[in-house]
Amino acid sequence: MNSEGIIKKDILDSALLLDYVTEAIVVSDSETRVLYANAATKKLLGFENLNHVKLFDLVHPEDKNKVKEYYQTLKKTTSLISIRRMKKKSGEYAIIERNARILDDGSTISILRDVTERFNFEQRKDTFISVASHELKNPLNNISLYSEIAQNYIAEGNIPKARYALKKILPQIEKMSNLISDLLDLAKIQAGKLEYRMKLFSLDETVREVADEVIVFSKKKFHIDIRGKILNPVYGDKDKISQVLQNLLANSIKYSPSQNTIIVNVSENAETASVSVKDFGIGIKKEEQNKIFEKFYQAPSSSRYASGMGIGLFLCREIIKKHGGRLFVESEYGAGSTFTFVLPLGKVAS
Ligand SMILES: Nc1ncnc2c1ncn2[C@@H]1O[C@H](COP(=O)(O)OP(=O)(O)OP(=O)(O)O)[C@@H](O)[C@H]1O
Ligand SMILES: [Mg+2]
Repeated sequence: MNSEGIIKKDILDSALLLDYVTEAIVVSDSETRVLYANAATKKLLGFENLNHVKLFDLVHPEDKNKVKEYYQTLKKTTSLISIRRMKKKSGEYAIIERNARILDDGSTISILRDVTERFNFEQRKDTFISVASHELKNPLNNISLYSEIAQNYIAEGNIPKARYALKKILPQIEKMSNLISDLLDLAKIQAGKLEYRMKLFSLDETVREVADEVIVFSKKKFHIDIRGKILNPVYGDKDKISQVLQNLLANSIKYSPSQNTIIVNVSENAETASVSVKDFGIGIKKEEQNKIFEKFYQAPSSSRYASGMGIGLFLCREIIKKHGGRLFVESEYGAGSTFTFVLPLGKVAS
């Protein structure tokens, strides 16, 4: 069949054709009143009908002056890409990128894009750089402080106190080294270069080993109650799974400011083994439970309790996914959280 046969005549009607385009296209007069909006524009802003709606009325009050300036620039340059917040039908604001072209009569034809997600992510990334530097500087400051104290004690001949100060350095080095490994892993994951050394290992033993280590390095006295048993081995990278456990336990400790118990449940069925880490800490709001697995995301409600870079859970989920398993959270805000990961038992395909 020739191409004319494929393209139906009615689709060639240009307005109809534009409704098939996924980009939001809008034509507005010099007063920003909508003359034409395609289906994608209506979807983007949540309106069924945009006829005669003044786009300028939808602009966030704080962005109105900026938008007026854009229009003046547009008149001089004929086309312009700009950003503003616009109110959707739902009342929510979206960050909209507008690629506009002005026509002779002062009307404009524009493509609108919702860049809210991208914008928020970029912002999180910027914050991350300052957070990461701060997180690395903190243990470094403590290390230099304690080594200075140790030197002074040695000069005074007070060896027991010098030894005490030196002992304080070790957890700081451990903290720094964990942060750096997380950063390196993140970089490797982005490049698709995180390597997995797969073999059969006992998840049951690993859970017990990691719990012991975490207790040694935690500043607060915590009790980790391990319940259940996994008899079968799992096939995976033992170090990476240990890292997941470390992250989950460290979070439980960090986000339990006034509790000191963690319950770890291990169990298995015919095909899978699962480990759940339950704490009685601050919990996570429903609307944040999905976001916490995103890169650099830290729940605003938790910031006053803890430091961190917001990459731990992202790494955990990536690692578990690579093992053909899943990691999820159940939580009640104010009462505690349970993070569970499920791994296939025995050998997994590729
Ligand atoms: N057990 C928990 N209880 C309450 N909130 C939690 C818990 N675990 C994670 N969160 C929330 O999820 C967010 C993301 O966790 P994640 O481990 O990715 O980052 P982080 O702990 O802030 O930093 P780091 O990169 O050092 O791990 C935390 O900032 C916190 O808001
Ligand atoms: Mg963490």
